[in-house]
Amino acid sequence: MKQVYIAVLGFGTVGYGVYQVLRQNGDMIAHREGLKISIKRILVKDFVNEPNYDKAPKELFVTGMDEIMADPEINIVVECMGGIEPARTCILQALDAGKSVVTSNKEVISKHWYTFDAAARRTGAGLYIEATVGGGIPLIRALTDGLQASRIDRIMGIINGTTNFILTKMSEEGLAFEDVLREAQANGFAEANPAADVEGYDACYKLSILSSLAFHTHIPVATIYREGITRLTVADFEIAKQLGYEIKLLAIGKKTESDKMLVETRVHPTMLKKTHPLASIRGSFNAVFLHGNTVDDVMLYGRGAGQLPTASAVLGDVIYACHHEGAHPQVTFRNIPDTDSGTVVLKDWDSIYCIRLRVADRPGVLSSIAGVFANHNVSLKTVLQSAESDEDKTKHIAKITFITHMARELSVQAALKDLVNLECTESIDGLIRVEE
Ligand SMILES: NC(=O)c1ccc[n+]([C@@H]2O[C@H](COP(=O)([O-])OP(=O)(O)OC[C@H]3O[C@@H](n4cnc5c(N)ncnc54)[C@H](OP(=O)(O)O)[C@@H]3O)[C@@H](O)[C@H]2O)c1
Repeated sequence: MKQVYIAVLGFGTVGYGVYQVLRQNGDMIAHREGLKISIKRILVKDFVNEPNYDKAPKELFVTGMDEIMADPEINIVVECMGGIEPARTCILQALDAGKSVVTSNKEVISKHWYTFDAAARRTGAGLYIEATVGGGIPLIRALTDGLQASRIDRIMGIINGTTNFILTKMSEEGLAFEDVLREAQANGFAEANPAADVEGYDACYKLSILSSLAFHTHIPVATIYREGITRLTVADFEIAKQLGYEIKLLAIGKKTESDKMLVETRVHPTMLKKTHPLASIRGSFNAVFLHGNTVDDVMLYGRGAGQLPTASAVLGDVIYACHHEGAHPQVTFRNIPDTDSGTVVLKDWDSIYCIRLRVADRPGVLSSIAGVFANHNVSLKTVLQSAESDEDKTKHIAKITFITHMARELSVQAALKDLVNLECTESIDGLIRVEE
């Protein structure tokens, strides 16, 4: 039986989860894997204010990295503090000293992966990130250890549980975004400051990691198009329902290869046909749909976050690190700060669009709008119209929804700019991209 000592940095949801899973399954892991994994140190900010301080033996707690770094028995450092600093410094310190690192911190990995990767290569330490994406779903390992023989050209995923919880409620109960967000915050499904989730940042960090591994080239967070769910309205869901769609916050990555690798990566609300497997993912669950040239479609589904699922992924990495001591696997691409010269991240992709307008209800309006779309090479597939009167009944307004055929992103944006300037346009009420 091999004795393994680890240090856990941060004793919040994930850190304490690691402690719990080890207590629950430690003997089983020892029996099956031949590894007795013990937490030797837990780093906290201070003892007094740590809410989980009374949940583990007091002698494990420390408030600085020195004791952890100086202990030759600690070979693996588990980082679950979150954020950039001090996580970045602690991870680098450990890797520079040849200690392997397991982390659940997607933000620091998506922004500083190349620095960590270089340090790990230099010292031969392992760097393991399964818990950064998809919580308990073994997504990273699927890409690095199961699908290496396939050329993955498409990723489409629901990778943020909070937003999927909110969108499911908006869809099923016809509620407004603000009301569902308030309820989600009260029930602990959304943070007091929800921006990272509802503005799509969290999904961008995860898509950066997933698409880099799937496409074997570094896709920096800054190159990913991002749009959150805060502008979605009850009317968007009514139209989606009428047309047979669900609205999901999707992380999308697509790759085509010519002389260069052309990649599009984007996070935005998306209308999905109700028959698409991702359309049926409800509540806080996550799912990722991959397509590879040899495997066709692969879908992974499960708890994308939560204390025990995430801690389980962390400990899976710890076990993997132990089994690969001395020969830790490295990423297969040139991990550099920017995009590799052989890769082009596209800003102008093809999609179908659902556009909602309010316009003056009078003859000739529809043809002038269609003319604007035609000028920008955007062809229309479906038009839905309903009438309304404004409050003082002096104006007759038509609400029109257009579904386009496949069109270029920049052409649609240019068409919208021209539509705003049409005298008949009252407002542009929504634009949602559509995947079929
Ligand atoms: N929760 C999940 O389900 C989940 C799932 C997947 C990935 N993750 C990721 O895992 C990481 C941790 O998430 P979490 O939910 O466990 O967060 P959390 O509950 O806020 O726990 C983080 C802990 O780290 C502590 N900490 C912060 N700075 C520290 C420092 N300088 N020294 C020592 N301790 C420090 C925090 O203490 P204070 O509270 O005093 O600041 C807190 O106890 C994040 O990157 C998150 O994105 C979380």
